[in-house]
Amino acid sequence: MTETIKKLLSINENAFYLFDIQKLRQRTEFLRNNLPDGTKLCYAVKANPFVTGEAAGLVERLEICSPGEAEICRSLGIDSSKMVISGLYKSPLFLRELASDKEFKGIITVESVIQYEQLCDLSEEYGISLRLLPRLTNGSQFGLDEADLDMMIRDREKHSLLNIIGIQFFSGTQKNSAKKYARELSYLDGYILGLKERFGFSVPELEYGTGFPVSYFIGESLDEESLLREFSGLMKNMQSRVPVTIESGRSIAASCGSYYTHIVDIKQNKGVNYAVTDGGMHHITYFGQYMAMKQPFISVAGKEDAPHEKEWTICGALCTMNDIMVKQASLPEIKTGDVLCFEKTGAYCMTEGISLLLSRDLPAVYILRENGELYRVRPAFETSTINKPKYERMF
Ligand SMILES: Cc1ncc(COP(=O)(O)O)c(C=O)c1O
Repeated sequence: MTETIKKLLSINENAFYLFDIQKLRQRTEFLRNNLPDGTKLCYAVKANPFVTGEAAGLVERLEICSPGEAEICRSLGIDSSKMVISGLYKSPLFLRELASDKEFKGIITVESVIQYEQLCDLSEEYGISLRLLPRLTNGSQFGLDEADLDMMIRDREKHSLLNIIGIQFFSGTQKNSAKKYARELSYLDGYILGLKERFGFSVPELEYGTGFPVSYFIGESLDEESLLREFSGLMKNMQSRVPVTIESGRSIAASCGSYYTHIVDIKQNKGVNYAVTDGGMHHITYFGQYMAMKQPFISVAGKEDAPHEKEWTICGALCTMNDIMVKQASLPEIKTGDVLCFEKTGAYCMTEGISLLLSRDLPAVYILRENGELYRVRPAFETSTINKPKYERMF
């Protein structure tokens, strides 16, 4: 256990998250070292909004999917030229704010013909040139059909204020099959070559949400380096030679996070050992948790090297029988007051939980900078302030 963790444990009676920026940097370096030279990185802010400020210094772009995420970036003073404003639905007000802001230098994705028309109208109304990244659908509700995207490319000269800077494509998360990447890249390559052939348009870049996977559970066999090697080979084989920006969330952020929760009660019910924590499923959600059947990487703070004694069912403090964090977790000898550390919790875990169920507090969030400085970036948050009825007579 490091000195920082010891200090944090001494000042925190309740659960908290810690995001380690050195690990975030190492992760972006790892991806860069394992991808073809010149590949750019775009960090999907949704994975962990708390490290946005630090991530901005490590990647070329940030993908922002809501006015709330845009506000987070603005409040951190992030240059708009780094922003890709993405997201299925962009409200008319949000689009207007972006289009009317002469300082805004970011990119806006286009998810539908209606959104495209809204952007045409706004650019003309304000006489502002907009950089657009139409999103090609993968067959879901996201993005544009090929025919619609074709139309935008064909008619591009009609809208001189709209600058199509490339194509975005995202097809899902946790993809660990090289075959799937091969299918997708070959399809994209063909489509991009077709745009050149049919409309004389050389796609300036492809922003590809790869869905690079994270191995969250013990026993999962992910050979990341060989997957990235295969992926890089596929990228290099693309005939279109399109420059690629990799849009990624969990693969960048997951490894930088740890979630600490105290064991507050211990018991044996009908032969099962239960460790009750002050946290729970409203604080931590792993992708594909499968009702706690999988074993995440957990340690007991200060007992990292102690032999494992027994198996425990670790549950949270919510009053629902569903609040089982892990079943059959093998742990060293534990007592109340011990602290469990859940690793690889830097992406989505802190925001995908059912935060408001039972009006319990949300944990404090800390950031550990590379120079050793520790910051609290959110105090523990009382959700009762949201769930409490506030009567405002309307009629
Ligand atoms: C458009 C887009 N880009 C990137 C991401 C990030 O995905 P991941 O965290 O799996 O890298 C998502 C996730 O939903 C997304 O919708």
